[in-house]
Amino acid sequence: MTARIIDGKSFAEGLRGRIAGHVERMKTEHGITPGLAVVIVGHDPGSQVYVAQKARQTVEVGMHSEKYELPETASEAEVLALVEKLNADPAIHGILVQLPVPPQIDAKKIIETISPDKDVDCFTPASVGKLVIGLPGPVSCTPLGCLMLLRDTLGDLAGLHAVVVGRSNLVGKPIAQLLLRENCTVTMAHSRTKDLPDIVRQADIVIAAVGRPEMIRGDWIKPGATVIDVGINRIDAPERGEGKTRLLGDVAYAEAAEVAGAITPVPGGVGPMTIACLLANTITTASLINGLVPPSDLTA
Ligand code: GUN
Repeated sequence: MTARIIDGKSFAEGLRGRIAGHVERMKTEHGITPGLAVVIVGHDPGSQVYVAQKARQTVEVGMHSEKYELPETASEAEVLALVEKLNADPAIHGILVQLPVPPQIDAKKIIETISPDKDVDCFTPASVGKLVIGLPGPVSCTPLGCLMLLRDTLGDLAGLHAVVVGRSNLVGKPIAQLLLRENCTVTMAHSRTKDLPDIVRQADIVIAAVGRPEMIRGDWIKPGATVIDVGINRIDAPERGEGKTRLLGDVAYAEAAEVAGAITPVPGGVGPMTIACLLANTITTASLINGLVPPSDLTA
């Protein structure tokens, strides 16, 4: 068997098109321009690339975009003051503080200061609580992207056995909650799980989110299973030239693609979905803040 490749890049493009349509309708029918503020502290090159992409795509879908670049030496009080200002700003419906932040700043304190109404990352305890009990609100971006790709690939997910490998707050825990809401049978596995290959072999859906390059091998995959690889591991690639790197997922792609029914590549699978889902969340929060029902095609 050769797996169908799940093209996250093209799905994300389509999603951004739908988001642009919703933005246009919010403007014309309700006089609301959804606004997203992104905050970066310091000069981490990777974070700068991400934040620039987020700001550019926000503008491309017709939203209001604000970008705040604070120096590496910014104090915690300065960042907190900025978040409070954005909390109170009616033109802003989503606030994202890019992580990691420099060590003098307590990320937990920053996150807990973001208004849950504007928490487009779904990082605050209040947002996570809503996600778990199924109340309307933003949904963690990468997990929402995984769910959209799964629904598009498989349709109804009810009754399927999903094995989530990785238990991070960012991906593993929220995707497990979303899959439960879809009536999957969910097994959470992690680095300390015994007999991990045997557990993964039982999965109709494998979510790989451990952050270890190519850890999940082809012979761990049940024939026909759907494999969603969340891993983005940057590896030195001297064969491509001095100082060059390449990206590897958490799944040994070539091996797994021989066995799986469908699989996301790295890059071009889950990655492009994350920013698109950030924009989707900004529509959701802008709708809820204004007493509107969020568009059902943009949320879990
Ligand atoms: N750093 C890496 N990924 C993310 C993300 O999804 N949100 C935020 N705020 N920071 C990040």
